[in-house]
Amino acid sequence: MPLKKSDYMSDIWKDGIFANKVVFCTGGAGTICSAQVRALIHLGANACIIGRNVEKTESAAKEMAAIRPGAKVIGIGAVDVRSFENLQNAAERCVKELGAIDFVIAGAAGNFLASIEQLSVNAFKSVMDIDVLGSYNTLKATLPYLVESGKKHRIDSETLAPYPGGTGGRIIFVSATLHYRGMPFQAHVSVAKAGIDSLSNAVAIEYGPRGVTSNIVAPGPIAQTEGLERLLPSDAKEAYTKSQPLGRFGHVRDIADATVYLFSDAGSYVTGETLVVDGANWRTSGGM
Ligand code: HXC
Repeated sequence: MPLKKSDYMSDIWKDGIFANKVVFCTGGAGTICSAQVRALIHLGANACIIGRNVEKTESAAKEMAAIRPGAKVIGIGAVDVRSFENLQNAAERCVKELGAIDFVIAGAAGNFLASIEQLSVNAFKSVMDIDVLGSYNTLKATLPYLVESGKKHRIDSETLAPYPGGTGGRIIFVSATLHYRGMPFQAHVSVAKAGIDSLSNAVAIEYGPRGVTSNIVAPGPIAQTEGLERLLPSDAKEAYTKSQPLGRFGHVRDIADATVYLFSDAGSYVTGETLVVDGANWRTSGGM
């Protein structure tokens, strides 16, 4: 059954704010990233979603294209973010078919629970390669197009008026909060996410002068995601939920709304930041 709008975004945004924009998203068929992309499509964007699994990626793209009449969505499968060449080809195809890349979401990630003793050197390296190298490859393959888009969509420093045609030249890296304090069985992911946070800061400083903004969205425990399913045993869920400051897990909509904000005109002066969307989870003693 097709998803309802409320399954992936709130109702407060103005239709058409991302008309004619193009978003390029790795991990775009995953639970969190697909909500982010769906919201942008709903608000006018066209999209290119990237994944390893061909069937999953193409069928998610087809479903997303039905969100809005006229939406163009391409799904490019068999792309491993560890391969720069794979990503460069995907970015070129996106621009050829959709005309530009205005927004990037670097969302592909790998995760499993393992103690440092259980974690082989190759297991550690696999997660570093998917998360850190994969984010870098995504950035590097799309940066020329982000700079191009950023040039067109800068805000005039004298009048503060946005150039016509909305926003562009923006990247969001999807990170986490588990590295803020340290978490057992997640050494590999913690190191990787810290690296991604640093990469985003570097982009903000180095490419701000060329009109590109870069931010982190850091989800906390989001219901019905692979990440949460792996980290929290099902018999612990109810007690864990009750222990949360807001008394609930996050919804994918919470992450999609944060994304819309950062890509919208309202987020124009926000760069080099981390938007933690976790209901204060990480500040609690049992945070993840
Ligand atoms: C210990 C493991 C393991 C496990 C794999 N390995 N799973 N070690 N415990 N559960 C080891 C393997 O034995 C191997 O090491 C090495 O990791 C590489 O494994 P492969 O299967 O060959 O690699 P690959 O096919 O590339 O798979 C990558 C992966 C996989 C990361 C291991 O799980 C994956 O692709 N996951 C993608 C989907 C995913 O995890 N999504 C959730 C993201 S959630 P050896 O030494 O044997 O060669 C997320 C949120 C985090 O990131 C924050 C949550 C709050």
